[in-house]
Amino acid sequence: MTQTGVDHVPNPNTRPEAGGFDSADWWRQAVVYQIYPRSFHDADGDGLGDLRGVTEKADYLKDLGIDAVWLSPFYPSQLADGGYDVDDYRDVDPRLGSLDDFDAMVHALHGRRIKVVVDIVPNHSSNLHRWFREAVAAGPGSLERDRYIFRDGRGESGELPPSDWQSVFGGPAWTRVTEPDGAPGQWYMHIFASEQPDWNWDNPDVHQEFLDTIRFWADRGVDGFRIDVAHALAKDLGEELVDSHALPNEFEEFGTHPFWDRDEVHDIYAEWRRAFNEYDPPRTAVAEAWVHPDRLARYASPDGLGQAFSFDLLEVPFTAENFRRAITKNLDEARRSGASSTWVLSNHDVVRHPTRYGLDLDTLLERLEERPLTPSGGTDLSVAAKQWLLLGSPEDLLDRDRGLRRARAAELLVLALPGSAYIYQGSELGLYEVVEIDDDQRQDPSFFRNPGKDQGRDGCRVPLPWERTAQDFGFGGPAHLPQPEWFAGHAADAELSDPGSTLNMYRSALAARREMQAAEELEWGPLNGGDVVHIVRPDGWESITNFGSDPLELPEGGVVVVSSQPLQSSLLPPETTVWLRHRTGGR
Ligand code: BGC
Repeated sequence: MTQTGVDHVPNPNTRPEAGGFDSADWWRQAVVYQIYPRSFHDADGDGLGDLRGVTEKADYLKDLGIDAVWLSPFYPSQLADGGYDVDDYRDVDPRLGSLDDFDAMVHALHGRRIKVVVDIVPNHSSNLHRWFREAVAAGPGSLERDRYIFRDGRGESGELPPSDWQSVFGGPAWTRVTEPDGAPGQWYMHIFASEQPDWNWDNPDVHQEFLDTIRFWADRGVDGFRIDVAHALAKDLGEELVDSHALPNEFEEFGTHPFWDRDEVHDIYAEWRRAFNEYDPPRTAVAEAWVHPDRLARYASPDGLGQAFSFDLLEVPFTAENFRRAITKNLDEARRSGASSTWVLSNHDVVRHPTRYGLDLDTLLERLEERPLTPSGGTDLSVAAKQWLLLGSPEDLLDRDRGLRRARAAELLVLALPGSAYIYQGSELGLYEVVEIDDDQRQDPSFFRNPGKDQGRDGCRVPLPWERTAQDFGFGGPAHLPQPEWFAGHAADAELSDPGSTLNMYRSALAARREMQAAEELEWGPLNGGDVVHIVRPDGWESITNFGSDPLELPEGGVVVVSSQPLQSSLLPPETTVWLRHRTGGR
């Protein structure tokens, strides 16, 4: 049996016709690597990652074997919410580069057959956006104000917010402005931070602004879009705002919430779809929509955005049953919508999965006052992990080796599934959540707006370690969030020279994945059940994950293509995934 490497010589440039770089279907089976630009690589040394930093790492991305990158926002921004507060949708933050740098990056990535997806943030702009500044300056009742959601306050002189709604980041969802004459004035709505005023999607200018934005980036060669909080744009707030009605995201009466997941939101995406389809190949999009599973298919429909993230694997603990359920559900959803399924283990908003999976969940739950639940009633691991951060990240509740072992097994399973896999930067290095951040070093508004209730998301946004011994681990400038000592062992150069590293597992798996036939379906294999997830792809490739604590006898006749832990014999160790190919079967 081999170690974690491949037993064949992959050809990185052969993709089955359908689904390859040149095909309109490239996205259906794509492995998409999420770049959080200011923490990826810093080419100009100012301490913030930048677009030239991405270009400089284009060969790294190609050698990793991904099909596309998705860039979190790189637009001009005061960074009140890590760039999700956009000052100008059609430019590059000067600290991150210029439009020329953007074009050079696209050229470098396309030259390596890597597609480019950018983030569109259509629910809110930043309060520094030209139109918001104009709205404040123009005063109540103006056309300029109508592009946002302004209301008079309650109380004798309007000193109380129009409703008691709380923002997602904590604190009121309304902020009062000072009118042009200097008097305290109206209030504007913001589902997120006060620096992120919500657009009024009943206003035609807003529609045009986003159509122009989509075409602007599509004309520059962008292949697809990730749509931020896609379920919040359409709002029906009524004349009278009802207290305590807006949050949290309730699932009972579909489409009746004043702003979450209203049916009219799909009219917006139908309009965008027409714009996407003006291009050849049509531009793609993926929705970030935290909605009831029964409602997700509409976001993913071909008349709408075309694909939607499934976040099940962010939430569920590492058990075979949980993964089986998520796989079945996601494949069903994809069948219903006509999209392909999506798999996400980490992103810039959640505690990294090697840490989530290393938590002693039973003991953690005993220490928590309330058990965090998923919509289906299971334990929400993502929320539990945030609670663990709040407890001060007690190390006695974290088994790092176990967390990484499980993370590797989970990623290898996910990469064997039909559909597209989204990989968050640093996952390929096996990075844990960074917990060594002092409060005065934090940046995330969810930390500042929720004192004592949320540690924020900075721990998954720390600049990447590229070189084991270099200053700032080769990030390129003074890292804007502190990099812990243990990053040395996860630096890309250290991992590259270690055949058993997480990076080499990803490279082997992604190279092998290119040899698989594109598939949208799978069958369960004979070992599936209990602690084992066993899938068989239409081309005969198999993936077996042992979620249990005893080794598992592997079936005879399979050639090991890649495994998440070294295999010494025909036994699959606990918490390990292996891919098998049959000598005579398959391609
Ligand atoms: C993004 C977050 C952001 C929020 C507001 C999200 O869902 O992923 O990072 O804070 O939208 O834009």
